[in-house]
Amino acid sequence: MTDAPDIIIQEVAPRDGLQIEKAWVETADKVRLIDALSAAGFSRIEVSSFVSPRAVPALRDAAQVFGAIRRHDGTIYVALVPNLRGAEAAIAADADELNFVMSASETHNRANMGMTHAQSLAELSAIGKRTLDAGKLLNGSVATAFGCPFEGTQARVKVIDTVKRYRDLGAGGITLADTTGMANPRQVRALVSDVLKLVPPTQLTLHFHNTRGLGLLNVMAAHEVGARRFDAALGGLGGCPFAPGATGNVCTEDLVNLCAETGLRTGLDLDALIDLSRQLPALIGHDVAGQVAKAGRPLDLHAIPEPLLQPG
Ligand code: COA
Ligand code: ZN
Repeated sequence: MTDAPDIIIQEVAPRDGLQIEKAWVETADKVRLIDALSAAGFSRIEVSSFVSPRAVPALRDAAQVFGAIRRHDGTIYVALVPNLRGAEAAIAADADELNFVMSASETHNRANMGMTHAQSLAELSAIGKRTLDAGKLLNGSVATAFGCPFEGTQARVKVIDTVKRYRDLGAGGITLADTTGMANPRQVRALVSDVLKLVPPTQLTLHFHNTRGLGLLNVMAAHEVGARRFDAALGGLGGCPFAPGATGNVCTEDLVNLCAETGLRTGLDLDALIDLSRQLPALIGHDVAGQVAKAGRPLDLHAIPEPLLQPG
């Protein structure tokens, strides 16, 4: 028997979650959230993005956040980067891993990153060398891999070719992202099976949004064909500011509950996550989508109704 987790969950609420929030979250509050997530047992946390502060004002304090968090041994603290300038800033902030993002769909890439595929790949080429020279890890994310809100379904060969390019340019890790929740389990099984022929399960992450209620089903479909690493956001926060109708990621505590109920070890403290999730509305000023934090765990039983306790 080993205590190694069966599934690795990377917490992305501080990045994907907060990037779309309208109200400013103070740097100290972001740091407190990330420190609490470290304490809950995550081995990977996406902390922030080194992007244009005009594009994503909510994360304009990325360097300060990286400078102030308490880092746990064995936890990888990740920074999203769109270009070499962001990579330089992430390295200066001592991020452990840089997560480069480009969309499978050129239309979404231009809306999100202001770049064509060729321009993004030129940035990645410079980022790959710089990141490896600095001794950092590099992950490449394929956004809109399961569908683009402007172009629709993306050809599987296009996604696979992008994965190959990322690997050639130095990305050890690969993420397939369903940016606006367009994936379905059948499609997930097919694409993930293909990508697992190129990328080992220890290096492949699936990033699902629950936009159409299929988030956890897609996680389970990917798991069924061998995927072992998943992004999720506390409370089900999240969404791309440059994709119409985007909503939250798969909810971390709902996923951890599913794993706990079905005997998959995550190494995470579910009670601590539920407590943390219940603090989110005060932090961001509105209700969140997560369900287990509202309903409680399945065996958080309720008091038996009084009349049933009367004798006779
Ligand atoms: N970090 C901080 N600022 C950056 C930057 C970076 N990595 N890269 C560029 N900038 C600045 C530029 O200096 C410029 O500043 P200015 O407006 O004060 O002159 C501004 O951002 C725009 O840069 P420019 O090179 O003209 O390109 P652009 O307007 O097409 O923006 C990106 C390109 C990539 C910087 C921008 O689209 C971006 O940050 N996108 C990220 C979107 C995102 O995070 N989406 C959600 C996650 S997938
Ligand atoms: Zn996302």
